[in-house]
Amino acid sequence: MQDTNKNNLPIGVFDSGVGGLSVLRELKRLLPRENFIFFGDQLNVPYGEKSKQQLVGFLYKITDYLTKNHKVKMLVLACNTATCYAIDELREKYSFPIVGTVPALKPAALKTKTGTIAVISTPATSRSPVIKKLIENYCKGVKVINTGCKNLENAVEEGEPDSPVAISLLEKYLSPIKNSGADYLVLACTHYPFLKREIKKIVGPRIKLLDSGKAIARRTDFLLKTGNIKNKQKKVGETYYFTTGDPTKFSKVASKLLKLKIEAEKVKV
Ligand code: DGL
Repeated sequence: MQDTNKNNLPIGVFDSGVGGLSVLRELKRLLPRENFIFFGDQLNVPYGEKSKQQLVGFLYKITDYLTKNHKVKMLVLACNTATCYAIDELREKYSFPIVGTVPALKPAALKTKTGTIAVISTPATSRSPVIKKLIENYCKGVKVINTGCKNLENAVEEGEPDSPVAISLLEKYLSPIKNSGADYLVLACTHYPFLKREIKKIVGPRIKLLDSGKAIARRTDFLLKTGNIKNKQKKVGETYYFTTGDPTKFSKVASKLLKLKIEAEKVKV
């Protein structure tokens, strides 16, 4: 039996900041009839420099807020760092489906012709047991250059992917990769797809970029179908944006990144 009330409820999409919009963009493309609540925890960005205990604490509070105030039917963690450190705890506590963002190492290892791939992520993701396991399980016989990029998400948070600071950080992190023989570069932070143009300029056409956005949207669709909770409304769904930081700044940067007029509300959890 289909519970139509539940079907109309929104999907929560979470990130530390505006990076998760790169995932939201894919979700909206594949699932235009769904309603979304996008939540950016900008009071606490960057997540890549927090401990597991801090991250689990933030995520419990935020998920409680999304459950109580918006009755989300599903949660998408549009953040690699939060997925690496808090998804198991969240799945234990909440009964609705939770989709995580996992670095696309498996497809990169399957596609590589040179036998070398690279992955860039936040410092926390880069040293996480999750990424180590992915490398062990899926990258046998493949050389993986695993680089944690402190401060790189900030260029996106500021809405300035081509600022001199952003370019010099990118040059620092990408030069060793450019000269490594790698043919695939995995973008394992949801902020980085917004830096694609700048990354491509530095690494050149020989290195292909992979992120997880489309795979997350497909996984979300699959779980909606198997749970029989897809929104059947005829109109295009609505999306509401919330930040724990400055809503004026969020709205300005988000509108620029998604090329849409976005107005965020401030929320305290
Ligand atoms: N967007 C986040 C990720 O995918 C984290 C950025 C940060 O807050 O450090 O890991």
